[in-house]
Parts: sequence; structure tokens; C-alpha cells
Amino acid sequence: MLNELSRDPQKILLITDANVDIEVMIDAVKKSKINCGEIRTLFFGPENKEDFPELQLNIERHGPEGIEIPEEAYELISDANVLMVHFCPVSSRLIEAAKDLKLIMTNRGGVEHINVEAATSRNIPVVNCVRNADAVGEFVIGMMIDLTRDITLSHNFLHQGQWKRTYYNSSFQKTLCNSHVGLIGMGNIGCVLAKKLLGLGVHTIVYDSFVTKESLEKKGLNALEYTDDLDYLLSTSDIVSLHLRLVPATEKWFTIEQFRKMKKDAYFINSARGGILNYDDLRQALKEGLIAGAALDVFDREPIAEDDPLLQMENVLVASHLAGTTLDSIALSPYIVTRDVDEIIEKDIPDRIVNYRKITL
Ligand SMILES: NC(=O)c1ccc[n+]([C@@H]2O[C@H](COP(=O)([O-])OP(=O)(O)OC[C@H]3O[C@@H](n4cnc5c(N)ncnc54)[C@H](O)[C@@H]3O)[C@@H](O)[C@H]2O)c1
Repeated sequence: MLNELSRDPQKILLITDANVDIEVMIDAVKKSKINCGEIRTLFFGPENKEDFPELQLNIERHGPEGIEIPEEAYELISDANVLMVHFCPVSSRLIEAAKDLKLIMTNRGGVEHINVEAATSRNIPVVNCVRNADAVGEFVIGMMIDLTRDITLSHNFLHQGQWKRTYYNSSFQKTLCNSHVGLIGMGNIGCVLAKKLLGLGVHTIVYDSFVTKESLEKKGLNALEYTDDLDYLLSTSDIVSLHLRLVPATEKWFTIEQFRKMKKDAYFINSARGGILNYDDLRQALKEGLIAGAALDVFDREPIAEDDPLLQMENVLVASHLAGTTLDSIALSPYIVTRDVDEIIEKDIPDRIVNYRKITL
């Protein structure tokens, strides 16, 4: 597949902008499995980060065609083998000028700035970058520990002058490493989170209607308990965490029916999207004691209404859609995309290649 990139020295063109330090891009490709020959660099767009959003919006709305980039880019790319950009538009003209291009990497998740069709017609793989999966994974683990060990609850009581030692869950409290955690949805975030949980010694059960056990094993996730029986996951997990995308098929997908299948001392976490969960059903499940508690970073209506009953429940931990927001996820994104390219080179896992179903590798 892309393993030829690790054999002979490759000519690399890195085009950065005000958001990503060029030294980070250089370091990332040098540390990757790509055999780096000559590395050329170029800067795109305004020097100031504050001036970037307007240009960004323009590219997101209109795509890569017709947006001016430095003329020098066409010359520099003519014999380059590998291109890495952050937000610089990669138009059909740039792709045409690149006679020997074998790989396009972007440090973003979105690819609105790349003419993927033009790359596909030249059989060039485009690799994008899921830069906040680690941020979400860590946040969810934080929520798991906070919710089950009453950190925020205790904090709030202490602020009110109360040294409280027992809470609603004291009679069934467990350490995370002795708990069973069930993850629903094993895409980018599910996989990253599962890896972290396994590292903490947590028994992790996973369910995804489109992902096979074999593909997870290929990613090194052999220690997981894979199940194709959602009811089994729901009835055996001490914590159930949602990691699906919101699409028409998953709208209000998690309902009272699923809560009824969970253990009464189990917790529920939603950091995916509010629309996937029926929030009325969650309120009912909490009210009826069908589950022990919940941690929520996302809501069906954001911001959540001030008088929402969920905000009055001591067994509900809430956050204002914060899981994915860390500054370093942009600054360090070149390392994330090269890490994924290394996986493609080493293990033949093409998930991150945006156009892999349409090209021959
Ligand atoms: N809270 C935040 O700040 C934050 C930040 C980033 C992403 N997110 C959200 O996290 C969620 C996961 O993101 P991702 O990048 O891992 O998405 P992804 O597309 O990589 O993964 C979603 C997974 O869900 C699986 N799936 C779809 N329908 C299913 C079903 N009916 N049953 C079981 N599995 C099903 C898919 O096969 C896929 O593997 C998304 O909803 C995303 O919007 C939240």
C-alpha cells in the first residue's frame, strides 16, 4: 500500500498557516515512518491567527477552487511526493501541477479545503486527521471517575461548608478498574477511548453494528470483549457510554427500552450528540431509579435550559459540550496525522484514507 513511502527518500512539501507551527510539521514528518528526503515549506494565509476565521469560513463555504495560494506552491509541488497542509486549499490546479504526488495529508478532520475528487482521479490517497479523539477520550474517563466517585458532588458540598462522607452511591461504589465499561460505537473516539480504558485495566465491552471484531484486533484492540448483542452489553456494564454519530438512523436511538435493560446500579454517559438520546426517557429513567446516574456533555437543546430537572439531580454530572476542546489538538495535529499514516504503512489500516474506496492502492 503506502509502504513504498518508507523505502526510498520522498520529497516533502509542507504548507502551514497561522494555526500550526511549521517546526511541528517538520518534526512530525521526520519522526514518521515516511523516509524524508528534501523537505520544503511554505506559508499560506494571514500571519495572524485572529485574521484566519474569515478565510476559513470562505474555504469551508466555497471549497478549494478559486482561493489564492502563493504562486510558489505550484513550482514547489511539481516534483513533490508527499504534501501536508493544515487549511491551505488543495485545488485541482495544485493537484495537476503535482506530477509525482503519492500522498496528501491534512491536519484537519474536515476536507472542504481539498479537492478530493481531483486527488481520487489521480489515484492519490487523502489522509485526514481526527484530532480531538484523545481529548474526548480523556474527558469521558474523567466523567466516569467523577460521576462514580462523587468528586464534583463532594466539591460542591465542601463549598457549602459540609464535610460529607457518604453519597447516594456509597453502598455500591466501585473502582473503575474493577468495573465493566460498555462502549456503543467503535469509530474514532470509541477506539481511542477503549485503548485508554484497557490501559487502565478496565474490562471493556464494545458494540458497533458496522465494525467487526477482526478490524478492532487489527488496531491492536485484542483485549476487548466484543459483542454483537447490545442487550448483553447493557445488562452487564457498570457504565454505558455512547459514541455514535448523529444520523437519521440514530436519532433518539437510545430510549427507555435500553435504560430498562441496564443494571440499576449502572451509570450512563453521553458525550456524542444530544440528538442520539431521548432525553425525556433519560429523565424518566433517573426518576424511576432504572439507573444509578448519568454524565452528560451534550444535550438535545444546547445550552440546556436553566430549569431542566437534570440540573437538580445529584446523580447527574453535566458539562457544557467541552469534551473535544483542547488547544493542543490543533497545535499537535501533525503528529496525529503522521501517526495514522504510520499505521497505514505498518498495519495496512486504511480507515483514515478519505478516498480509499475509490482508489487502487
Ligand atoms: N462532546 C464533544 O465535544 C465531541 C467532540 C468530538 C466528537 N463528538 C461526537 O462523538 C461521536 C463519535 O465520534 P467519532 O469521531 O468516533 O465518530 P465515528 O463516525 O468515527 O464513529 C461512529 C461509530 O458508530 C457506529 N455506529 C453507527 N450506527 C450505529 C448503531 N446503530 N449501533 C452501533 N454502532 C453504530 C459506526 O459504525 C462508527 O464506528 C459523534 O457523535 C461526534 O459528533 C463529540
